Amino acid sequence: MSNDVVIRTDRLTKRFGPLSVFEEVSLEVKKSEVMAIIGPSGAGKSTFIRCLNYLHPFNQGKLDILGHTILGGKHHLPREELRDIRTRVGMVFQTFNLFPHLNVLENITLAPVEVKRVARANANERAMELLEMVGLSAKAKMYPKRLSGGEQQRVAICRALAMEPEVMLFDEPTSMLDPELVGDVLAAIRRLASDGMTMILVTHEMQFAKDVADTVVIMADHGVVETGPAREVLESPRTERAQSFLHRVLHPEEANDLIDAKMAPIGGRQ
Ligand SMILES: Nc1ncnc2c1ncn2[C@@H]1O[C@H](COP(=O)(O)OP(=O)(O)O)[C@@H](O)[C@H]1O
Ligand SMILES: [Mg+2]
Repeated sequence: MSNDVVIRTDRLTKRFGPLSVFEEVSLEVKKSEVMAIIGPSGAGKSTFIRCLNYLHPFNQGKLDILGHTILGGKHHLPREELRDIRTRVGMVFQTFNLFPHLNVLENITLAPVEVKRVARANANERAMELLEMVGLSAKAKMYPKRLSGGEQQRVAICRALAMEPEVMLFDEPTSMLDPELVGDVLAAIRRLASDGMTMILVTHEMQFAKDVADTVVIMADHGVVETGPAREVLESPRTERAQSFLHRVLHPEEANDLIDAKMAPIGGRQ
C-alpha cells in the first residue's frame, strides 16, 4: 500500500443479521484528501463510516486504516489496536452528543486529559485555540444547553480535534441544524479541509461537496453506485442510479410530479 493512503477498504461487506447493508465496497482515501459520501437515507452511509473506526464490526473484506489491517468476520479487536484507531480518527455525529454536565472547555479537554494524559494547562490552551478557530472563544464556560445547535456542533468538532486526529469522519454534521446555522459549521469544516485534514464526510450539502470534496461517492442499493472526482460525479454522473438520485436531491420540487407520473395511466396522461 503506498504511503499516502490513509484509509482503504477492499470489498467491505456489512450485514445486520439477514439485512445486507452494503456489499463489496472498495474505496481509498489519501492523506489530505476529502471524500464526500452521499446517497438516499438507509443506503448504509452511517454504517459504512462507523465501520472505519470499528464502531461496527463488518462481515467480509479488508480495512486498512492508519497502518492497521483489519479483516472482516472479527468481532473484537485487541484493546490497544482499537484505542490507537479511536484516538487517531476523530468522529462528529449528526447529533452533537456533548456531555451535558460539562461546560464547553471541559467537554473539549476531557479526552486529551483523561486518555492522552495531556497536562491540564496545555489542554486548556489548545481548546481555546480551537474555539477561537470556530469563533466560539467567548462560550468556553457555558454549558451545552445554552448553546444553539450550530454552536454545539462546532464545539463537537473542537472536541474531536482536541485529540489531534489524523483523519476526521463527519456523519451529516449539519442535517439537524436550522438552515441559518449550517453555514458556520460548514465554514469550520472547510477551514479544516484547507488546512490539509484527511476527511470523509457524509452530507446532503451538494454545493459544499462540490466545492470542498476531492472525490464523491454515491451509495445506494447495497453498495457504491458511482465514485470519482467530485465535480464529475455531481455534474455529469454516468450511472442511471446516480442520475436519478442527484435529480431528486437537486429538484425536490419535482417530487410530486414524479408521483403523479407514476400514477398516471400507462401511455401517459390524457
Ligand atoms: N444497529 C443496527 N441494527 C440493525 N440494522 C441497522 C442498524 N443500524 C442501521 N441499520 C440498518 O442499516 C441500514 C443502513 O442504515 P444507515 O447506515 O443508518 O443508512 P444511512 O446513514 O445511509 O441513512 C438501514 O436499513 C438501517 O435500518
Ligand atoms: Mg446516516
